[in-house]
This record gives sequence, C-alpha cells and structure tokens, in this order.
Amino acid sequence: MIDDKKVLYSGMQATGNLTIGNYLGALKNWLSLNEEYECFWGVMDLHSLTVRQQPADFRKKARNLLVLYIAAGLDPKKNCIYFQSHVSAHAELSWLLGCFTYMGELNRMTQFKEKAAKHTDNINAGLFTYPVLMAADILLYQTDFVPVGKDQKQHLEITRDIAERFNGIYGDVLTIPEPYIMKAGAKIMSLQDPAKKMSKSDENINGSIYLMDDPDTIVRKCKRAVTDSESEVRYSEEKPGVSNLLEIYSTCLGKSIEEAEKDFVGVGYGDFKMAVAEAVISILKPMQEEYNRLQKEKDYIDSIILENDEKAAYFANKTLRKVKKKLGLTEKPRKA
Ligand code: TRP
Repeated sequence: MIDDKKVLYSGMQATGNLTIGNYLGALKNWLSLNEEYECFWGVMDLHSLTVRQQPADFRKKARNLLVLYIAAGLDPKKNCIYFQSHVSAHAELSWLLGCFTYMGELNRMTQFKEKAAKHTDNINAGLFTYPVLMAADILLYQTDFVPVGKDQKQHLEITRDIAERFNGIYGDVLTIPEPYIMKAGAKIMSLQDPAKKMSKSDENINGSIYLMDDPDTIVRKCKRAVTDSESEVRYSEEKPGVSNLLEIYSTCLGKSIEEAEKDFVGVGYGDFKMAVAEAVISILKPMQEEYNRLQKEKDYIDSIILENDEKAAYFANKTLRKVKKKLGLTEKPRKA
C-alpha cells in the first residue's frame, strides 16, 4: 500500500517495436489504472541484455519506449514511469532472491526452455535467472497486482513462490503479488497467420502493425491481411483472419463486435480492410504526433526521468533495506 492505494506493477522490455497488439491488448488498458492504484511502469532494460544489443541503438530504443508510454497516454505525473537500470536495487535484490530460488524451479520455466532452444549460441546465465530479476522488480515495490499476459503467468507464479519462501523464514517482509486480470484487453493476432499472436519480434513484418507505421504502410498491411475464400464479414472461429480484423476495428473504435459486424453487412473484404486500416490510423496518428512532439522536448523528458527514477528508488530502497536487515547483512555504520 502507498497512501491507501494498492500497488500495481508492470513493464515492457525495451526491445522490438511495439505493435497495435501491445497497445490494444495492454497499454491502452493501463491508462486509467492510476485512478485506483499506485502504478509503476518499468522500461525493463536490464532484461533486454539477455540478448546481445547494439549499444547506440539500444540506448535509443529504451528512451523511445519511455516516450511512447507517455505519448500513448500514461500520465507521468500520476504513474511512475522509469528505467529499471536506473534503480540499482533491482540488481541487488535479484542477487539476494537468487539465493532463495532453486535450479529446478528455473529449469522448469517454459520461456527459458523456448528461448534456449531458439538461441543455442547464447544461452547465458542471465537468461536462466531472468525470472529472479523479474521477481525482484515486482517485490521491491510491495506490489499487490501485476497485469500480465498468459506468457508471463509462470514468472508471476515463481515470484509468489520466492516471496512466500522468504516470508516463511523471515516473517511478513514481502507482499505476495496477484495477477491483475484485465476487463477487456483485446487479443490481436498476426495479420499473416491469425493462429499466432501479433508479435513485435515476428520475422514477417507484414504480420504486425507497428505503432510507428505510417498510414500507407498500415493500408498496405491491412490489404494483405489473410482472410478466407468467403465474402461475409462475420465473427466466427472458422474465420480467424476476418475475426481478427473485426477485433482490431472494434477495439480501435470502442465498438462491440456486433456493432462492428453491422457496419459491414453487404460490404466486400476490400472495403472492409480499408475501414480497418482507417480505424487503426485514427488511433495511431494522434499518438505518433504526440510522440514526435515529445521527442523534441528533451528537457521535459529528462525532468520526468529524474523525478520518476527518484520516486521508484525511494520505494525500492525501502524494501531492499528491510530485506538486507532480515538476512543479517551488517549495517553500514553512520558517519559521526
Ligand atoms: N518479462 C516481461 C515481458 O517480457 C517484462 C517484465 C520484466 C515484467 N519485469 C517485469 C512484467 C515485472 C511485469 C512485471 O513481458
């Protein structure tokens, strides 16, 4: 609890270009959470280092993500938006919690197994202990709720296990976090393969609409989207491509699926796809304009970073001090 509010924590890795899937499925639903919760949104740049990064490019991407959070509508005065690497308590607590995490537990993580299989040339220890750092992220802020997608559920479970183990030995030190289930949260699939989730790391760039795509690109990608050999715009399991486009259209315009279907009675796929593209553009254009405006406001962004880093560090260090004390690490003598 911070000032009578429960704490909510989440973040995204600073790599890859965010897609409308990330926006419609996650970010968009985060915007109003600060009314009810004390919210922390990290730019998870330490996690990104499990994959080799180009320093100049990485630096830009991390900052761009922070700016994008703000451009998308997260108010940085009401949400703590910060860089994970600027708060050293994350790395410190991660070490301490690592001593309360078993090899067997980490070995069972599906994401580790998948990533290890995919990047056989760089199965580093960071990739293995990734969930411990994530546990540190969450537990440092005495988090009550973590909005996570299906793919991160296992990481939240191990976070709870680590926290319960620690509390079992040292008393009530860490808040046990719970998953935060989003009310709406559209699930957007690839435009090229509607059986797969739209992903920021898809090799087929036509499968994803990126938040920074220009209108022409959006139109082109929508036109190329996979549909079916029928001609009826209807939401149905047998029509995954059309259903996905309907989902995108309805979420962008804040309509229900039924309302969306009504818009396309007797309309062919060509015009339908154009309408989907227009709906996407109507959402992305103002966001991109705000993003471009903010990119020019360097001093403003710097001041936001400074302020929020400090705020995050304040809460994180409070927990870290408590944990260290419980563990019996010696305290620094005060200077006379
Ligand atoms: N692992 C998350 C992802 O890839 C990102 C992440 C890191 C995170 N630390 C977190 C998400 C803490 C929620 C809470 O999506």
